[in-house]
Amino acid sequence: MFYDLLGWEVNVLKIAVVGATGEVGRMFLKLFEEYKLIDEIRELRLFASERSEGQKIKVGSQYYTVEKLEEEKMKERYDYIFFSAGGSVSEKYAPIAEKAGNVVIDNSSFFRMKENIPLVVPEINGEILKGYRGIIANPNCSTIQMVLALNNVYKSLKIKEIVVSTYQAVSGAGNKGLKELLSQQQGSKEVKHFPKMIYNNVIPLIGDKLENGFTKEEEKMIEETKKIFVDKNMKIFPTTVRVPVLYGHSESIFVSTEKDASINELIDLIEATPNVIYSEEYITPIEVAGTDNTYVSRLRKPEEKAFLMWVIADNIRVGAATNAIRILLKHRELN
Ligand SMILES: NC(=O)c1ccc[n+]([C@@H]2O[C@H](COP(=O)([O-])OP(=O)(O)OC[C@H]3O[C@@H](n4cnc5c(N)ncnc54)[C@H](OP(=O)(O)O)[C@@H]3O)[C@@H](O)[C@H]2O)c1
Repeated sequence: MFYDLLGWEVNVLKIAVVGATGEVGRMFLKLFEEYKLIDEIRELRLFASERSEGQKIKVGSQYYTVEKLEEEKMKERYDYIFFSAGGSVSEKYAPIAEKAGNVVIDNSSFFRMKENIPLVVPEINGEILKGYRGIIANPNCSTIQMVLALNNVYKSLKIKEIVVSTYQAVSGAGNKGLKELLSQQQGSKEVKHFPKMIYNNVIPLIGDKLENGFTKEEEKMIEETKKIFVDKNMKIFPTTVRVPVLYGHSESIFVSTEKDASINELIDLIEATPNVIYSEEYITPIEVAGTDNTYVSRLRKPEEKAFLMWVIADNIRVGAATNAIRILLKHRELN
């Protein structure tokens, strides 16, 4: 909360959410309340497609009307604009907002690998936001929880190779993903959004398949991890898999390092990153849904300089909205 010269509380932030009716967008709104940002927001604008124009959404004690996204509205001055409406919307509208002098926190993949765009997980590389204004990219959900778990292992032991298999919730594919699983649970045989039936099934293919056999989702995990750790030589071999879980991505990770460490030293390194928790007991998606931590369990060390672990986090929160809110908080702290 900020105070004026007379000591009265004043609301200072003007914030916009593009994609406010989506899975990630609605989570932003929830987090504005949870993180008490709503008390500091002087003006909140919600944007979505024409389909949602006029819809009313309650945030805090007030209802806000969803507006249709238009260029002119992105030319206004905001303190922060969150984008979570897909890559093509970000591609078109985020540069307009940036040109108007706004700080844009983008959840799509469109800007993540662009050279001059910071790709930020605040607990790891938030300091790069000092003095920066413009588009800030939020990494892919599967990348965020993996790099959070491995952050200090990387810094202390240097990671040579990561082999990771993901078990990704249907909410990672947005509203449509959730609806498809829920309707198949009710007996529908319609397959629209996922490549095969997801109910009672597991689909080892997320995103378009590339020429080298990996998928777009797997490529994101490879390239984004290298960018965040600033290490072009690290080898990363992901297999991304969709599972019939509503919320919470899980990852089985094998890591080989240059230096060795005992299990206890590994636990200390894992827990040294804020918002990362080590658990002796294994953790499952149902237990992490609705939380803001990344959980590491099933830590095993079968040989020198190598270990395995199970990493799990709420994909909509840690993997998207919470990371974006943490970007805002870090940016504001540094600037
Ligand atoms: N879900 C995750 O776990 C996750 C994690 C990390 C990043 N992301 C990224 O976040 C973005 C949103 O994901 P989501 O899961 O929230 O998707 P979603 O549930 O499908 O929501 C999409 C949102 O975008 C809006 N939208 C779509 N087309 C639009 C247009 N032409 N103009 C303005 N608004 C438009 C939709 O509005 P209407 O309601 O009007 O259609 C809705 O608000 C994607 O880029 C996704 O890759 C998602």
